[in-house]
This record gives sequence, C-alpha cells and structure tokens, in this order.
Amino acid sequence: MTKACKLAAGNWKMNGLRADLDEAHALVSGLGQVSCGVLLCPPATLISAMAEAVAGSAVMVGGQDCAARVSGAHTGDISAQMLADSGARYVILGHSERRADHGESSALVAQKARAAHQAGLVAIICLGETEAERDGGQTLAVVLEQLAGSVPEGATSANTVIAYEPVWAIGTGRTPTLAQIAEVHDALRANLPDAAISLLYGGSVKPANAAEIFAIDNVDGALVGGASLKASDFSAIIAALDVT
Ligand code: PGA
Repeated sequence: MTKACKLAAGNWKMNGLRADLDEAHALVSGLGQVSCGVLLCPPATLISAMAEAVAGSAVMVGGQDCAARVSGAHTGDISAQMLADSGARYVILGHSERRADHGESSALVAQKARAAHQAGLVAIICLGETEAERDGGQTLAVVLEQLAGSVPEGATSANTVIAYEPVWAIGTGRTPTLAQIAEVHDALRANLPDAAISLLYGGSVKPANAAEIFAIDNVDGALVGGASLKASDFSAIIAALDVT
C-alpha cells in the first residue's frame, strides 16, 4: 500500500497583513531539509506576496476557500483558478468556520473540491463533530457522513487531503484524547476512496502536543490555526512531524 504523504499545514484564517510576511520569511530561513510537506494558507490578499516570499523554499502556499463556480458574475468570490494563478497549490475547503458562518453544506464543499481539482489545486477537505454530537455518541456517524458528502468523484491522494478537526477543539486549547483521535482517523482511513490520501488532525495543535499526536497511526500531519501564525511555533510542529 502506498504510504500517505506527511503534511504540516498552517491556516492563518482572517489574520495577516503584509507586515506579517516576516513570519513566512522567518519560517523559510529557519527551515532545514524537510521530508514532509509544509504549507501556509494566508488570507487571499496575501497569497501572491507570500508565494513570492517563499519561492525556492520547501514552503508551499494555499487558499482558505474557493468558489464552486469557475468564473462570472459572483461579486466577492474567488475562483480556484484565481488562487492557482496567484501561486496557491492547495485550498482548504469546508472548514467548520465556513460550514457554520456561511452555511456551507457537504454538497457545496464537494462542488468546490471539484472546482479546485479542475484548477489543479489539492483540496484539503475539513470534517469534524460538534461537542454536542460527540457527547451524543454521534462522532463517527457525523464525520463519515461528511466524508461521503464532501469528497467528490475522482478524489485521489494526488489531489485531496482530509483534515479531521473536532469543532470543539478549534481555538479552544482542548484536544481529544489520543485514543479518540485514533478512533476517528482509523474510521476515516477505512472509508477513503484512495487509502493513500493524507489524513491531518486539526484543533489546538501546538509544539507541546504535536509529537504525541503525530505518533498516532493514521495521522499524517496537522492543520494548525493559531500556532501557525508564529514561525517559531510552526517550526517546532514541523520538526515534530519530520522525525515521525
Ligand atoms: P487552531 O485551529 O489550531 O487554532 O485550534 C485549527 C483550525 O481551525 O484549522
């Protein structure tokens, strides 16, 4: 069986002005030889400048969302092709903040992933249960339903990454137990359309807990929010992944 590629992905969310590109410069200059993928997803306004800032290094750049449609009269939307044209190679889709703030359904996420694939981008498709769903014993049912609904036909390890992000662990400093992460990742692996698709864990990953999370079977990396904003924290997470 082909082994999934390891990936440390940073999600800057709605944070970052041009001055913060200093963190991308610092990340690049502190990064030695790495065998895992390293990705930063800044707000769309910084994609092109960040792509220039990290050019020639191992750091790749991605977007945080794209339109499902290809082009046209859709004010404010950004197409997958525009992201690719700005220097992005990946795009995060179906993040729980978009599912909650913008009412994005799994069907819409699947359409966006199709658009990303057509533009040559790798789609990082996010899934995760709310705290009420976990307390109600529905975690596996919820994430497997999101997986089935959000991953389009034609998804392979070359064009798709899945990120398991429990909603209650995002930005809270709380994480599931290692056994809880393992249970979900095992279930996801068994249900992937291509077993070599990388499975990231996301939700309060930081330098202090990265190594133990990366040691879990079927965890191929992380999608990191807050701790990706500072090069020092993100570098420590990358180093923890690179030795696993
Ligand atoms: P966090 O966010 O690392 O700040 O918890 C993770 C994410 O939302 O991708």
